[in-house]
Amino acid sequence: MIADSFGRVHDYLRISLTDNCNFRCFYCMPEEDYDFTPASRLMQPNEILAIAKTFVEQGVKKIRLTGGEPLVRKDAAEIILGLGKLPVELVITTNGTRISEMLPVLLEAGIKTVNISLDTLQPEKFFMITRRDVFHQVRSNIELLLQHKITVKVNMVVMKGLNDGEIKDFINWTKHNPIQIRFIEFMPFTGNKWTSNKMFSLEEILKTVEQDFIVLPVKSAPNDTAKGFMIPGHEGSFAIISTMTAPFCSTCNRMRLTADGKLKNCLFSVGETDLLTAYRAGNEILPLIKASIWAKEKELGGQLGKHFENLDADTLTNRSMITIGG
Ligand code: GTP
Ligand code: 5AD
Ligand code: SF4
Repeated sequence: MIADSFGRVHDYLRISLTDNCNFRCFYCMPEEDYDFTPASRLMQPNEILAIAKTFVEQGVKKIRLTGGEPLVRKDAAEIILGLGKLPVELVITTNGTRISEMLPVLLEAGIKTVNISLDTLQPEKFFMITRRDVFHQVRSNIELLLQHKITVKVNMVVMKGLNDGEIKDFINWTKHNPIQIRFIEFMPFTGNKWTSNKMFSLEEILKTVEQDFIVLPVKSAPNDTAKGFMIPGHEGSFAIISTMTAPFCSTCNRMRLTADGKLKNCLFSVGETDLLTAYRAGNEILPLIKASIWAKEKELGGQLGKHFENLDADTLTNRSMITIGG
């Protein structure tokens, strides 16, 4: 079992497969030329599998693959099929562009839920955010997943003045589609130009939806980051991920492994533990894992708090989002 000093049992591992991505979303990666990590410094498929096995032996029940964009890795299929053999729930967060090519692999690995990042339903705005003209490809890949009875959750990072006006359009999308939209409060990371006035809060999101719909709360699953809601008569549902105004750290069960093999005990953790170097040197990684999680801060990596109005994201000691994977 892996636990922290507050008694939180950690049984959910997020593995970033790469910091590379085929999109260029301004809120996720630093604006200046960003050098992706060279392949030699990335965990190789056998290393990912061996390190993941150590976590699974310690009670990890769920593994989420993230990026950058996990499916741009050339050996993504090998990694996914390998992890699919472990006794865990395997899931993935993706921008949705490579779903059609990868569908046979996802099905063979037993993936039943896919989280797709999609911040707008307008093709021009999609291009403005991602710098890629592939809105329709992402939309048709979502349809494809639904046709194959794969659960789809759509991640929409709400940014004031950019896409908060689309909340109702996203809700309308759930009327005849069994998808869950997750509205996410915009979070600060190194280089992402976050300011508190670009944030659209849980309260604002709820108020916006309630102007036009009857909203009923849904009981959340244990350790859920999202507060769930339903609208009578809608096939799908929505949820809100409120890290900034209503954090859910007291039930946190998550650990993160970066693509270069560093363990982060929190999304906002300052320190990292280099598991890959230890593994390559033939050292035991379990004591390192246990020590890292034991040292976890109570909330938000000890870096963020209630008073974030004047926070400068660049003063946080953290990586940029593209190298963490959410
Ligand atoms: P589920 O396994 O479906 O609960 O996925 P998830 O929502 O945790 O993962 P996903 O990769 O889809 O991330 C959606 C949003 O939740 C992103 O903005 C993540 O950064 C955020 N998120 C995921 N895990 C955590 C966490 O442990 N803490 C915080 N504060 N945010 C998280
Ligand atoms: N704030 C909140 N969510 C973010 N994501 C990326 N950057 C941010 C941010 N600054 C989300 C993406 C993706 C998930 C892994 O993290 O939408 O779906
Ligand atoms: Fe867990 Fe850190 Fe996220 Fe809080 S911010 S829920 S402690 S990972």
